Amino acid sequence: MITFAIDPGTLAEDSQYAAKRAAKGEGPGLASRFRADEPIDDVDLATLLLSADVATDELWEIARASRPAGVPKVETFSPLYFTNECDGECKMCGMRRENRALKRETVDAATICDQLDVLYRRGIRGVAVLAGEYRLGPQRDAMLARAAEAMRDAFERGFAHVLINVGSLEAQEYDRFLAGIPRSPDCVISPQITMCTFQETYHPRIYSKFMGSRPDNPRSDFDRRLVNFDRAVDAGLRSANPGILLGLNSDIGYELLALCAHVRHLEARGMQVYISLPRLRKASGAEHFAGLSDDDLVRMVSLLTARFPAAKVVISTREAPEIQRRLLPILGVLTAGSPGVAPYGEADARFEIEASQFEVADQRPLEVILGECLASGAIIDGYEPAEKMSPAVSAT
Ligand code: SAH
Ligand code: TRP
Ligand code: SF4
Repeated sequence: MITFAIDPGTLAEDSQYAAKRAAKGEGPGLASRFRADEPIDDVDLATLLLSADVATDELWEIARASRPAGVPKVETFSPLYFTNECDGECKMCGMRRENRALKRETVDAATICDQLDVLYRRGIRGVAVLAGEYRLGPQRDAMLARAAEAMRDAFERGFAHVLINVGSLEAQEYDRFLAGIPRSPDCVISPQITMCTFQETYHPRIYSKFMGSRPDNPRSDFDRRLVNFDRAVDAGLRSANPGILLGLNSDIGYELLALCAHVRHLEARGMQVYISLPRLRKASGAEHFAGLSDDDLVRMVSLLTARFPAAKVVISTREAPEIQRRLLPILGVLTAGSPGVAPYGEADARFEIEASQFEVADQRPLEVILGECLASGAIIDGYEPAEKMSPAVSAT
């Protein structure tokens, strides 16, 4: 099986072609075909994204119809950052190496365990372990070892799903990371472990504009990141979480086309795919770049949900409650929590932007956010609240 590759020139041409077709009014006809389950290709999908004469609600309806009948069913997990140190230089991120304004914090293994206990008591059964990305050397090895230990600690405590969000790994690093984890006879990792590396943008020039290009910046290598999931498959993992940071590249047709190709490649390699669509948020010491409009976000989620029924689109509490509610029926995952370091208390979390990766729009306790979904009739996989929410709380 060959590793994933893209051809930026072709993607840009295809996106332009989609925009032309959208302007010519091909959208409504494509929408009817999509709705009727007739075959459409990725350029058709991008045409729908860009068609002003196809209502966002219509795309939402197509996505809703593509989901299993009945009440909305989503999965949840919460993020756990154990450090905000990073050698990356991503311009939009509060954790970037050169950001003097950020209060740096790293917690030890015991604190990570306490945080896992808190999340577990609060009913959370899926956790994303997060850190920066580091130059080759002892700090990188130590951070990866701590992340690997956090993963083992989470499974020991009964967490059902662990997501790894620590940058891309080399083949030997995967082997070390996964040493001793149970495997099936064909060497596939048994517990549910998801590798997460969002490409942010599939456009190499825009990538280097934001993620940098210096060779001592571990995050600057576009290609190493692009094929990270191929190394993950080789290492025995079967769950991948690619994503686009919406707001970096205004050519969203290009990003949609590239993401579709990536998802298809990963599914062909036997992976469960989670598709993250974070929108750019304000961050410490970073210019505030405008994200994408609410409408374009709903269009992206709708088209990806309808196109990839086996994949799960992930939306986080970066988004405000109203937009979460609008998206819930067509989502695969709603993830709530804080990008602060070890931020959780028994009933709350710290969100100070001076010590966080970025600002979160919805800072309500996760019990309130998930409780509201349950109250609206949704089923949430990965959440087992200890007791019923009091009416006062669930009514907010
Ligand atoms: N250091 C790891 C972990 C990233 S955190 C890595 O780079 O892979 C997960 C995601 O947060 C990033 O991939 C990016 O998509 C997102 N992110 C970074 N800065 C952001 C901002 N200002 N607003 C919203 N999301 C941001
Ligand atoms: N950036 C990670 C992600 O989007 C971590 C994360 C998950 C997160 N859920 C969150 C950050 C909720 C803030 C709020 O997967
Ligand atoms: Fe570091 Fe990741 Fe932020 Fe880039 S996005 S600066 S690699 S934490």
